[in-house]
Amino acid sequence: MSGTGSEVPAVRGLWTSRVAFILAATGSAVGLGNIWRFPYVTGENGGGAFVFIYIACVFLIGIPIMMAEVMLGRRAQRNPIDTMRDLAIQEQQSARWAWVGRMGIAAGFLILSYYSVVAGWILAYIPRMLGSVFHGMDAIEVESVFTALISDPERLIAWHTIFMVATVAIVARGVEHGLEKAVRYMMPALFGILVVLFLYVLTLDSFVDGLKFMFIPDFSKFRGESILAAMGMAFFSLSLGMGAIMMYGSYLPKGASIARTTIVVAMSDTVVALMAGLVIFPIVFANNMEPAQGAGLVFTTLPLAFNSLPMGALIGTLFFVLLAFAAITSAISLLEPPVAWLVENKHWDRAQAARLCGGVVWLLGLGTVFSFNLWADYKWTQKLDLGKVQFLLWENKTFFNIVEFLTANVMLPLGGLLIALFAAHLMKRESCEDELALDNHHFNLWYFILRFIAPVAVVIIFLHTIGVFNMLGLID
Ligand code: PFF
Repeated sequence: MSGTGSEVPAVRGLWTSRVAFILAATGSAVGLGNIWRFPYVTGENGGGAFVFIYIACVFLIGIPIMMAEVMLGRRAQRNPIDTMRDLAIQEQQSARWAWVGRMGIAAGFLILSYYSVVAGWILAYIPRMLGSVFHGMDAIEVESVFTALISDPERLIAWHTIFMVATVAIVARGVEHGLEKAVRYMMPALFGILVVLFLYVLTLDSFVDGLKFMFIPDFSKFRGESILAAMGMAFFSLSLGMGAIMMYGSYLPKGASIARTTIVVAMSDTVVALMAGLVIFPIVFANNMEPAQGAGLVFTTLPLAFNSLPMGALIGTLFFVLLAFAAITSAISLLEPPVAWLVENKHWDRAQAARLCGGVVWLLGLGTVFSFNLWADYKWTQKLDLGKVQFLLWENKTFFNIVEFLTANVMLPLGGLLIALFAAHLMKRESCEDELALDNHHFNLWYFILRFIAPVAVVIIFLHTIGVFNMLGLID
């Protein structure tokens, strides 16, 4: 990186942009997915085996596809729809590849619709922590506070609205600078509180139970769909398969190493998720709680930990404030692709585009709000009829469960699969070599994984899931 005097500004520019990319991408990756979703889905899927497959998916599917997304984004410097179209045309392929970008944007709308509602729960916990509402409560009492919150649609709508308004306001202004600062200071602080919580759970007798639950596979609790859930979790947590990382790829200047930056982001993301699990499960076992209780897991366990800490109310308040910021930096990356598309392609005013997209997301979010109260008893079972064979897509799921399943477990992996196929099979090898600038050995490794291992793994996991339903006799 040394050079003549005239190169210095460029080198400095490169360096700050590389950091800007890492911060923006980490801001997107680290969020509710790590602290809310990873522990609860791990709990529902029996722990160890799920965690093992999740980690394998991060390394064998997630990191190679993340590199591909960054590479495509940096090459085209556009929103995901135009990136896919421009690159397809450049490589003499069909402009229909733009549909990958469109599906990604649809996935982003749907994800943000429930993401915002859950972020609303986080916001709702801030005044509760500050007011020491949980002080002296046992597990059952904490659970009743959470249940009271999610049973009240008006309150949920209010918090969901506040979160969406904040997200829209930031995206309307353009994101880069605030985002960088927020991530630079808030993320380490959030991680710091996780470390404090970790030190606390180390003192619990149930720490070993939590550790065993997380890392020793127990296949009796592993469900057939758990493999799909683990892959979906990897995509969700790394923000892959919908173009968010592709958008942020344009932050990265030509000279910066895609491989190294990607690995930093993916590793930080995984460490935060594992840390959240390591904190939550010992609390679950110490209080005889149910690890498979579902989406409320973090909200019913963490207040108990803060109760036992000195200055717990203050640390707890700070934790939920920081988590709300982590959620907003992820939400921005979900809203940015459609807004960028409306601005770049349709020449809309940025603020207007942000407001319209935010409005659509807000409306969709009402479905999630009602899933926990007014519509809690509406559960759907859906079959896919392909003539001779019928597949059971889902069984007994609420609106929220369905949207979550469709986005995380179907749309993101499908988007990732198409991105992998495009980058590794349709783009010229030289284009990839040029963009990644890796040494031969590492390039070949990445290319092989992206060409064969990642897509085959995604397809096998999809087929396996259908097969599992079959074996369970769930298909007529
Ligand atoms: N990765 C985010 C999280 O773990 O909270 C959620 C997310 C953001 C998913 C952006 C997908 C995405 F495109």
